[in-house]
Amino acid sequence: MSKLIIANWKMNPATVEEAVELARATDQEHLIICPPFIFLEELSRIIDKGQLGAQDLFWEGDTGAFTGEISPEELKNLDVTHVIIGHSERRQNLGETNEMVAKKIATAIETGLIPILCVGETLEQKESGHREVVIQEEIAVALDGVESDQPIYIAYEPIWAISTNPNAEPDKPENTLEVISFIKKVVQEVNPEILSQLKFLYGGSVNSKNASEFLQHDEIEGALIGGASLQAEELNKILNEVS
Ligand code: 13P
Repeated sequence: MSKLIIANWKMNPATVEEAVELARATDQEHLIICPPFIFLEELSRIIDKGQLGAQDLFWEGDTGAFTGEISPEELKNLDVTHVIIGHSERRQNLGETNEMVAKKIATAIETGLIPILCVGETLEQKESGHREVVIQEEIAVALDGVESDQPIYIAYEPIWAISTNPNAEPDKPENTLEVISFIKKVVQEVNPEILSQLKFLYGGSVNSKNASEFLQHDEIEGALIGGASLQAEELNKILNEVS
C-alpha cells in the first residue's frame, strides 16, 4: 500500500529547535511535511527521505509588492514541492474565498508546485443537507479552466471532523468514498480533461488507530493529518503502515 501522508503542522511548533527535532524524528518516504513558512529553510536542509510542502502561497508567481505573502518561486527555491490550498482554517479565519483559492491553484500548477486543494463542509451545512452544494461550488470554482499534466490532490476535510473543533469525530470511510465519487462527477462536468490527474486524500482526526480504515481503499490515496502529525510516535506508526 503506497500512500501519501501530508503532515499539516498548522501553527506549530513554537521554535525552530522543536521543528527540527520533529522533522528528524519523522522523516520518511511517503511523508510530506508542511511546516509554518519560517521553518521551511531549516527543514529543507535536513529532510532527506520525505518531501517539503507549504501551507499556502500567493497567486503572484515571482516577487513583488505583496506584504506578508510568499510566492511560489520563493517556495520552490526552498525545495518545496507541494502546497496546501484553501484549508478550511484559512477560509474561516481569513476569509479566503473560492475565487482566491482558484487563483492559487492556477498559480501553483503554472509554477510546477503540486496543489493539495482542501474542500469540506461545516457541521451546520452537513446537518442542513448542504454538503453537496458547498463541495460542488468549492470544486467547480477552483478547478474550472485548469490545465495540468501533473497530479492535483484533493483533500476531503469535513470541518466537523477536524480534531480541534468541538466534538470532532473522524468521518466514516464510506462517506468519504461517497464524497470522492461526487467530486469526480463535478469535475466530469466542469473540467473532464483533468479527471485523470486527480488524487484524493482524507483529512480529519486521522490517527494510528483509524488511518488504515481509510487508506485500505484504493480511491483514498493518502491522508492529510494535523494533530497526530505533531506526535512523532503516532505519525511513525501511520507511516509504517503505508510504506
Ligand atoms: P486533524 O488531523 O488534527 O483533525 O487536522 C486535520 C487537518 O485540518 C489537516 O489539514
